[in-house]
Amino acid sequence: MPYKRITLTHFLLQEQRRLGRSGVFTALMTDILTACKMVSHEVNRGALVGNHGVAGSENVQGEEQKKLDVLANDIFLHMNALGGNYAAMASEELEDVHAVHGTAEGRYLLLFDPLDGSSNIDVNISVGSIFSILRLPEGADASKADAFLQPGVQQVCAGYALYGSSTMLVLTTGSGVHGFTLDRDVGMFFLTHPHMTIPADTKEFAINASRARFWEPPVKRYVDECLAGKEGPRGKDFNMRWVASMVAEVHRILVRGGVFMYPKDVENAKKGGKLRLMYEANPMAFIIEQAGGAATTGTERIMEVQPTDLHQRIAVILGSKNEVELIESYHKG
Ligand code: AHG
Ligand code: MN
Ligand code: MN
Ligand code: MN
Repeated sequence: MPYKRITLTHFLLQEQRRLGRSGVFTALMTDILTACKMVSHEVNRGALVGNHGVAGSENVQGEEQKKLDVLANDIFLHMNALGGNYAAMASEELEDVHAVHGTAEGRYLLLFDPLDGSSNIDVNISVGSIFSILRLPEGADASKADAFLQPGVQQVCAGYALYGSSTMLVLTTGSGVHGFTLDRDVGMFFLTHPHMTIPADTKEFAINASRARFWEPPVKRYVDECLAGKEGPRGKDFNMRWVASMVAEVHRILVRGGVFMYPKDVENAKKGGKLRLMYEANPMAFIIEQAGGAATTGTERIMEVQPTDLHQRIAVILGSKNEVELIESYHKG
């Protein structure tokens, strides 16, 4: 019965009462929700309002920025400064920390990837936004990157918005993973996917196979064994997917299981990998673990890695627990 559904705000209030928490999560989430709704609106209008194409600038990663990378970043910065909850923010699209002035009460730090899967914007394939919330350490200067350099286990909340065939918001505050779908007419996210859990086993993997010539032996071994199918050591046939939007891949894994890999390889090793630890790997690792999955670099639990740089890159292997543990055993063995 659709009219019996609960909104994301009501869900957070219920959780707050159930877990005896302060109202802080509800407050922290409010501005993020608005930002995600606004980005969803801009993604959806696409070419109608000239939102496709490149911005003509480069970000700190050395990537060419798309118009929507810049627009989504501006929306996140603006909306999340208004509530007074955040002392500072950091983004894939900004080299330095963005301090929020005039909010002495801001005790939290917000990290985000405003638009994930930029290469998919102009071809109308799912994109998303990823966010991670940390506490501002006692006595730390919020305007300095050092305040942000906390391992993923310190996250108080993480989530993503998926701008797909429907817009969804998936989040964890450390008590399971819950998914909400945007009702555009009502303008609200409603709980549609409570307690998302990842099956421990899978027959589906995701990796950019065009990089096979760069893979390290453990990854090559794992993929070869999957490709060998029923006749191989795994004794089952595997399916492969690659959307090139991490948000979409993680969402698929939350819904039906699977494993996603963007490993360190001989070509990207000098940078440490491709995906960014603070606003891609850590929030996704938190969500995946809260849903019963696992997230590793191959040798180390992602959320235990001590960051040394705001834009640090890292190897990512995440998803169905038994599968991730198998890949990890190949790295360690
Ligand atoms: P972003 O668009 O935020 O820069 O992130 C892109 C990431 C991630 O979403 C995806 O998994 C991966 O890069 C795609 O990489 P390939 O271009 O190698 O497919
Ligand atoms: Mn990018
Ligand atoms: Mn991204
Ligand atoms: Mn991005």
